[in-house]
Amino acid sequence: MRKPIIAGNWKMNNTVAEAIALVEDIKREWSDGSGVDVVLCPPFTALKSVSDAVTGTPLDLGAQNMHWEASGAYTGEVSPAMLRELFCHYVILGHSERRTYFGETDEIVNKKVKAALASNLRPIVCVGEQLEDRDAGRTEAVVEEQVRGSLAGLSSREWTDVVIAYEPVWAIGTGRTASPEQAQDAHAFIRSVVREMADESLSQSVRIQYGGSMKPANAGELLGQADIDGGLIGGASLEARSFVDIVKAAQ
Ligand code: 13P
Repeated sequence: MRKPIIAGNWKMNNTVAEAIALVEDIKREWSDGSGVDVVLCPPFTALKSVSDAVTGTPLDLGAQNMHWEASGAYTGEVSPAMLRELFCHYVILGHSERRTYFGETDEIVNKKVKAALASNLRPIVCVGEQLEDRDAGRTEAVVEEQVRGSLAGLSSREWTDVVIAYEPVWAIGTGRTASPEQAQDAHAFIRSVVREMADESLSQSVRIQYGGSMKPANAGELLGQADIDGGLIGGASLEARSFVDIVKAAQ
């Protein structure tokens, strides 16, 4: 009953020309848009070009970050309305790289989530433990704190637009994937936290993506787990064939 969602997080990769070439390759490899939501998240500079390139296709557009204010003296930042103007429908928020390198806290992520929802942008809210948390048996405590902090104070209506991405930090860009069982356990746990924060029905409908070295070779098994509803793909989203193979695995 939950429609799978595969999103490509290009991170700080691809010039405009490279971005257009990648989208054209993806369009050539995949035109059957049924059964899965597919979202491309280029860097800000390529959003407009990718937006134009996906018009009239089943591909959707997302950004990788935004500010929570509507406008003002925030040098280097981009507002929700600026993203909407380019037909962005999703925005990744609280990615571990933003949390680690740019000091984003759950409180900041929560402000961004609320601002995104108020502007009809669907937030893809990232949570996930560091390796030392997992080794110390703190995975659930850390993830619960992030989910509760980042998603505090949402109405039932707002919950329906939320996507959560579970990305264990030790699996990002390392080639070291969480096992399907480790990922499933974390996803089921996150769903139980959502049940406590919202209600049973919203916890059953919220989509939870796995992210962290997902590639065609492991996507099928991960996506086959009961509580894994899609993937947030980094490295493998930079190559059309591997990204589309993951999309097809989700289909
Ligand atoms: P990789 O797929 O490169 O591990 O990156 C995952 C990620 O951080 C997606 O947001």
